[in-house]
Parts: sequence; structure tokens; C-alpha cells
Amino acid sequence: MSAIDLSSYFGLTAMTLLTLNIMIGLVMSVKYNPVRGWPHLRINTFKIHNWTAYIALTIATIHPLIILFSSTAKFTFLDILYPVNAPKQPWINVLGALSLYSLVFVVLTSYFRRELGRKKWKTLHFTAYATAALFYVHGILTDPTLKDAPIDFFDGEKVYVELCMLLVIVAIGFRVRWQLGQPPPRVHRPKSAAARKS
Ligand code: HEM
Repeated sequence: MSAIDLSSYFGLTAMTLLTLNIMIGLVMSVKYNPVRGWPHLRINTFKIHNWTAYIALTIATIHPLIILFSSTAKFTFLDILYPVNAPKQPWINVLGALSLYSLVFVVLTSYFRRELGRKKWKTLHFTAYATAALFYVHGILTDPTLKDAPIDFFDGEKVYVELCMLLVIVAIGFRVRWQLGQPPPRVHRPKSAAARKS
């Protein structure tokens, strides 16, 4: 197995874990209860969501670093950090790098969510959707042999990434529908001095 093949497997594994992570995040955001509903089991969704994020971040960081061990790719460490002038597919690699940096942002802000406060953290957490868009497009458009070959959208690995993306898009649709069905948030108005006296 070449270094490029190994790097590609690391990329696919990170994408799989992040798909699972996002699906669980969506389940939590609609307050789904897995004890009352299917699969009627006590599942610690928060713990799974947390750990899939940490493991995916580790694997996604290793994924581009493996390319440094390829004798044919000729990537330098700078091409990994800032792929604008990378020897192959620079812009598709820029999407991958941006996706990794935004993943670091989502994980770091979540680590400090108590300090940030729920409202600010939650707003920042929506960055996760941009992260997902970046890694799905990067995964679909990259040539796995790093030879700038035309993309075969029906290749097994590409179909797998496309199906994961479709699953997340459909789940986001359900999440938006759930949100639209929620009552508007109650605005807290402090009582006026006159109302307090009476
Ligand atoms: C380890 C760090 C993380 C923690 C502690 C965390 C925590 C949470 C929590 C508590 C929720 C539920 C929010 C609610 O109930 O409204 C959530 C939702 C979500 N999380 Fe995370 N998360 C982490 C990392 C990630 C990562 C890396 C991604 C994907 C790149 C992600 C994607 C999502 C998504 C898509 C939602 C649903 C957001 C919504 O539409 O409301 N999370 N996360």
C-alpha cells in the first residue's frame, strides 16, 4: 500500500466519523430521546458526539501528514499547512485544509463552551455545517491517486462520500422542519417599577 492510499483511507475514516458525529449532533439538537423512541436504549449521545469529534480530529490531522512520506507526491510541510502552491490539486487541497482548521475551531470552542456561555458557543457551533460542506466537497473532488486525473463520480469511494453527504443533507432538512415547528422563544422582559409596586 502506498502512502497516498494510506492517506486516502485516513481521510475516508475521518469523514465517516464526522458523518456519525453530525448525525448525533442533529439528534441532540432536536431533543430526541432514544429511551422513549427507537432504539429504546439509554445511549450517552453527548459522550459519543464528543469522542467521535476528538478521534476524527486526530485522524483528520494525520491524513495530510502521511503525504509527506510519499516519494511521488512531492509535498512539503508548507504545502500541507498552506496548499495554495501545492504540486497537485492546490485548490481542492485548500478546501481540505480549511475544513481541518474549521474542525479545530469547532472542537476548541466546544472544549471552552462553559467559559463562552451556551448562547455564544451554540452560534459558533454552527461553523460545523461549513466544516462539513468543505470536507464533503474536498472528498468528492480529490483525485485519490494525486495525479490530477478526471473525477469518476461513480467510483466506489466517491459514491460512499456522496451518500454520506446526502444523508447529512436529508437530516439537516428534518432538523430545520423540527425548528420551524417550535414555538417562538419567550422574551424575558423585566417588570417595570410601577408594575413591581402594585
Ligand atoms: C468535542 C467537541 C464537541 C462538543 C462538546 C459538542 C457538543 C454539542 C452539543 C451539546 C450539541 C447539542 C446542541 C443542542 O442541544 O442544541 C451539538 C450539536 C451539534 N454538533 Fe457538536 N460538539 C462537538 C464537536 C462537534 C464537531 C467536531 C462537529 C462537526 C464537525 C459537530 C457538529 C454538530 C452539529 C451539526 C450539531 C447540531 C447543531 C444544530 O443544528 O443545532 N460537533 N454539539
